[in-house]
Amino acid sequence: MTQFKPGDVNLGDPDQLLEVGMPPHEYFAVLRQEAPVFWNPPPSKPLGGAFPLDRGFWVLSKWEDVSMASRDAHHFSSWLGGPVIYDFHPDAPPSSPYSLEGQRLGLMGKDHPDHTAYRKLVSAGFTPKNIAKLEPMIREHAKRIIDRVRDVDDAEFVFAVAAELPMMTLCELMGVPQEDWLQFFTWGNNIAMVEDPTIDALQTSMELYAYCQSLVDQKRENPDGSMLSHYANKEIDGERLTDFEINMFFLTLSIAGHETTRNTTAHVIRLLSEHPDQRALLLEDLHGRLPNAIEETLRHSPPVVQFRRTATKDLEVRGAQIKEGDKVYLSYASANRDEEIFDDPDRFDILRPNADKHLSFGAGPHFCLGNTLARLQLRTILEELLTARPNVHVSGDITKLRSIWFNAMTEMPVRFDEPAGVAL
Ligand code: HEM
Repeated sequence: MTQFKPGDVNLGDPDQLLEVGMPPHEYFAVLRQEAPVFWNPPPSKPLGGAFPLDRGFWVLSKWEDVSMASRDAHHFSSWLGGPVIYDFHPDAPPSSPYSLEGQRLGLMGKDHPDHTAYRKLVSAGFTPKNIAKLEPMIREHAKRIIDRVRDVDDAEFVFAVAAELPMMTLCELMGVPQEDWLQFFTWGNNIAMVEDPTIDALQTSMELYAYCQSLVDQKRENPDGSMLSHYANKEIDGERLTDFEINMFFLTLSIAGHETTRNTTAHVIRLLSEHPDQRALLLEDLHGRLPNAIEETLRHSPPVVQFRRTATKDLEVRGAQIKEGDKVYLSYASANRDEEIFDDPDRFDILRPNADKHLSFGAGPHFCLGNTLARLQLRTILEELLTARPNVHVSGDITKLRSIWFNAMTEMPVRFDEPAGVAL
């Protein structure tokens, strides 16, 4: 095992992260022990991809600190520098990839009171009661996806199985016509690859925005009961969302609700492949144990490694002097392995009693709006998959996404036969 020192890994260098492993759990363990609030300097070379990263940032690696900063929007702002770790420019026009203004327009890039008002308007469709109503639709799509792998021996898991349900759910939710699903799917895939120099994520965002506007116009002419139709036509508590707010929200969902759920599905199968004893435990009582197995997967292998805040004033955290305007990296991946909160935190244990204390959905005012929907989709696809093909296991090399943000895979070969040594 490599023994790192604080500073050995630059968390802004996607190539180094591919080498040491993303998330770099061994490195985070050293930070938690030796430098829980650590200054990560800017990377020595440009990131590549859509967004610039020129400045260093403070890394919070302890559960208490990540939780505190997520909840304390007064001192740790999502608006001041935007919610993501890249360096956006306050004077760039909103159409530029470097625009801070563009970042501030979405739900994630606002602080109270704007955030509270906007969230109230868009959150109506996401209440547990409304999400529960989606189960039959989600179940039907999940069955259709799993039917395709019912009789095959091998598949590429990420795109053949994991990717479709989140996109189909979003399309259904928003009332995207079936003939546009493939296009929507391609946009969603492109937008997740922000650090891939071959993909123009900004161009994709602009196309999605324009597409949403045309859908909003259609929903006004022909309301259809979809969430988008609701936003386009209804007042909520005497307020109505502007077209701009609707389009930005649509864009946010296309990013936030896609890559995350897809990768968690893939991580569950990866972890069960690495831990045959946990698979056997799960299959003994699939319906009873799956919800906690999903929480444990989110804790152990969060699909979103970090989000960002910006200090609104000079602050001291664990003796570190954070200056007004400094960027702060909230490491969910590290917080979830904090040994002060979780016993033997590197262990994957589907019966862990406090697995759901993870911070993978964030905390505080920006706590993931889609968490109930994500959990429902994960439970449904995994119930269908593990009932039909309980032995699905990783059968070759996994290709990881080059990213300083996501713990994501672009390829995961699987086999559906019985792996050696698994007693079922
Ligand atoms: C496993 C799946 C998911 C994970 C791990 C995840 C993670 C997160 C995290 C960490 C945040 C907090 C950002 C911050 O504090 O700055 C967040 C916010 C958000 N998520 Fe998710 N997410 C998931 C699925 C979804 C889905 C399915 C949707 C909707 C379809 C969604 C919609 C949102 C929205 C709208 C926000 C912004 C909330 C706000 O700023 O008030 N997410 N998510």
